[in-house]
Amino acid sequence: MPAVVVVGLQWGDEGKGKITDFWAEKADCVVRFQGGNNAGHTVIAGGKKYKFHLLPSGVIREKEAVIGNGVVVDPEVLLEELAALGQAGITPHMHISDRAHVIMPYHRWLDGAEENLLGNQKIGTTRRGIGPCYADKISRFGIRMDDLTDPEGLREKLHRIVPIKQALLDALGIEKKLNVDDLHALCTRWGTELQEYIEDTTLFLNALLERKKTVLFEGAQGCLLDIDFGTYPYVTSSNPVAGGAATGTGVGPRRLDSVLGILKAYTTRVGEGPFPTELRDEAGDHLVDRGQEYGTTTGRKRRCGWLDLVAARYACRVNGVDEIALTKLDVLDGLDTVRVCTTYTCDGKKRDQFPASLSVLSRCRPHYEDMEGWNSTAGITSYEKLPAAARRYVERVSQHLGVPISVISTGPSREETIWHP
Ligand code: IMP
Repeated sequence: MPAVVVVGLQWGDEGKGKITDFWAEKADCVVRFQGGNNAGHTVIAGGKKYKFHLLPSGVIREKEAVIGNGVVVDPEVLLEELAALGQAGITPHMHISDRAHVIMPYHRWLDGAEENLLGNQKIGTTRRGIGPCYADKISRFGIRMDDLTDPEGLREKLHRIVPIKQALLDALGIEKKLNVDDLHALCTRWGTELQEYIEDTTLFLNALLERKKTVLFEGAQGCLLDIDFGTYPYVTSSNPVAGGAATGTGVGPRRLDSVLGILKAYTTRVGEGPFPTELRDEAGDHLVDRGQEYGTTTGRKRRCGWLDLVAARYACRVNGVDEIALTKLDVLDGLDTVRVCTTYTCDGKKRDQFPASLSVLSRCRPHYEDMEGWNSTAGITSYEKLPAAARRYVERVSQHLGVPISVISTGPSREETIWHP
């Protein structure tokens, strides 16, 4: 398949890293199409561990790596990640869209201040300036990568934007003074250091696809954090759904061949917002401990719960998922009973569609189907060797969603995987 889109079907952290890393090896090019350094994944290569927040996963394999126009780039983070690669003796084949927006220092300050002002209503953002940067993109106050290499145009833009940002900082009580000359110097330094990578990536990507090269579109976060389809406002500010791969890269939707959805065998979320199947008992502790459910970017403990098939069915629909990789099945090992939520009850009525309204979602109570647990799936590499109860679980999920499960992950390492069961 020349153009494969990999997307998360829950609230992020579905274990996309391992699956994308596998696909990245086969691909000629890996492209990120949304988000920024709010994402995070760990890649183990050559016995070394790398933590990336911004670079596409294929970069470590010296594949062509693209940061599409839909991404927001913190140049300081990008330069740090590139320097770490250099120290490891890896030459990045980077292409950064000239249309990608730049996270400026004031975006980070605003992210923190807005969260503080929201108090116990906060979104629980990563405070990396993601939301304020996308907000500026839509408000037409953004600085783009191409501005970094155009000192004159940049100065004009800063003169237009800075007074507005200063007024906002002052109004929010943030004691920071913006200075056009300082920001200009910072941006032009970034421009000089990144110049060799900044280009019209729509040309590069479309030419690759024309030549039938394999391109992996690597989604960050997940469907339920999507700005349109997620649990708004407890979402990120971009479109992690498969459609974002087209708008975030300048590749037409008809050029995208297939969508691989990543679904964790249970549910997690970081940050705030309703979560119908959340567990606050021993089973929840089991998932946190066995699944090592702590954020890669912020280190926060993730909230855990049973697999929510109402939400997953919705995610399969809005992403047009062709096949699923079911991850972290082994985390459910050792439980007497495993549960899947197949419908909700809301205000005394059965509900089998995921609602847009958060107040409705927060009143939804899960209706569970209980299934027999199993002893161990850890490290199993063939479908036939899975305990019968685990196979029944996989088959029930696939049947409920109406989508084939083509990959099952039974442990963190590459080998602990069942391909095409
Ligand atoms: P932001 O993306 O930093 O604006 O945060 C908005 C929401 O998305 C918060 O609930 C974050 O915890 C969540 N979020 C952002 N990136 C990730 C991720 O990579 N995994 C899981 N949650 C994320």
